[in-house]
Amino acid sequence: MSENQALLRIEGQDIPLSIVQGTEGEKAIMISGLRQKTGYVTLDPSFMNTAACFSKITYVNGEKGVLRYRGIPVEELVKIGSFVQTAYLLVHGDLPDEEQKRSFSALLNQHSLIHEDMRHFFDSFPRGAHPMHILSTMINALAAFYPNVDLLSLAEDIEISSARLISMIRTMAAMAYKKSIGEPIVYPRRDLSYCANFLNMMFDSPVAPYEIHPETVRILNTLLILHADHEQNCSTTAVRTLGSAQVNLYATISAGISALSGPLHGGANQAVVEMFRTIRKVGSVKTFLEQVKDKSNPQRLMGFGHRVYKTFDPRAKLIKQECHNYLSRMHINDPLLDIALEVEEAALNDEYFVSRNLYPNVDFYSGIVYRAIGIPENMFTVMFALARLPGWIAHWREMIGTDTKIVRPRQIYTGHSLRHDERNWR
Ligand code: CMC
Repeated sequence: MSENQALLRIEGQDIPLSIVQGTEGEKAIMISGLRQKTGYVTLDPSFMNTAACFSKITYVNGEKGVLRYRGIPVEELVKIGSFVQTAYLLVHGDLPDEEQKRSFSALLNQHSLIHEDMRHFFDSFPRGAHPMHILSTMINALAAFYPNVDLLSLAEDIEISSARLISMIRTMAAMAYKKSIGEPIVYPRRDLSYCANFLNMMFDSPVAPYEIHPETVRILNTLLILHADHEQNCSTTAVRTLGSAQVNLYATISAGISALSGPLHGGANQAVVEMFRTIRKVGSVKTFLEQVKDKSNPQRLMGFGHRVYKTFDPRAKLIKQECHNYLSRMHINDPLLDIALEVEEAALNDEYFVSRNLYPNVDFYSGIVYRAIGIPENMFTVMFALARLPGWIAHWREMIGTDTKIVRPRQIYTGHSLRHDERNWR
């Protein structure tokens, strides 16, 4: 047996299995042919220990708290400070040069308006509808307006559909918000950068012109960069799974948005702020943590814990720092930040959280920054979707570019054996 093989002994038979290794030394045992050779499948509920694909997009080291997009640490990308360049990096593999930057921005500008007929869709949603539901519906509807997405045979079509999504999601998100508060919608402007444009569409009004503050543009870029991809998370897995069935790109992204909306995934940022408010009302961090630790209570400490990170989430570290800086530069005093700091300190010194390696994740401080920007709480997860879009597109493109088979896991059936209904139905 070679060094690149593992040996599985099963029912007296030795089965050699290939070992593959990633560029950062991660090792995996290939089991694709196992059932054919032995009749066995492997069982790994919730994919706790399963790599589902090869990917060149994002590297996460959960033990060391490392996150890199296309090899570049997120800390460096935050210094560059442009979400659009990060989106280009994820989708195309390298940061853009000046010419690529210009043509990518032009493409985003060109596709920033949504079809006028789609605008009327917003009128049909009930006033209190959650913006994530509106967003996933609107993105799905894009396929009806741009039907050539079903083919996407030309590289140019893929380029345009990707740019359309990245640009339009921002217009749709702002429109959903304006609708929800009964204000006239604000159209995108060519002279504004991606984030400045979004802020303007969200907050400008005919009676109170919005002043775009460069600090707000900067922090929004930072937040979007830090959320832009996270390898095979739940929503990305949804995207890759649908994509493998050759579902159109818009429906695929719509499924990613739906997956992201769950409170254990992207919905956590809204749940975190709601939790801080509850703690403030209860008046005691200690009492709240006791409830969280009580196994008969389903309440979790939202914004804490991660499937991959067993140390500090590097995104949480950066956002905490940026949160402090932004609030102090903008002279904002948020009592929920004090609660957050108190909860973090208490949890990091509590045996329950320490022994389970539970640390603040990306969602712990992001909601406080969004509040400071003026983004309403029911839009927090929409902000996550807007940021994660380049990641989803990059994974979809990577997947269709490789010879991927339709995703179709096996199961271990545990239901009834063959039985018949003896009743006479006639
Ligand atoms: N509060 C209290 N206990 C927790 C928490 C938490 N936030 N997270 C994990 N645990 C406990 C859990 O009860 C279990 O304890 P025990 O071993 O005694 O049964 C142990 O820690 C392991 O938890 P798990 O559920 O097996 O871990 P997981 O990898 O399946 O779950 C998670 C990861 C993110 C779903 C979970 O930590 C969680 O529910 N966190 C709160 C929700 C949250 O903040 N989600 C955002 C994740 S980051 C953004 C994103 O990628 O979407």
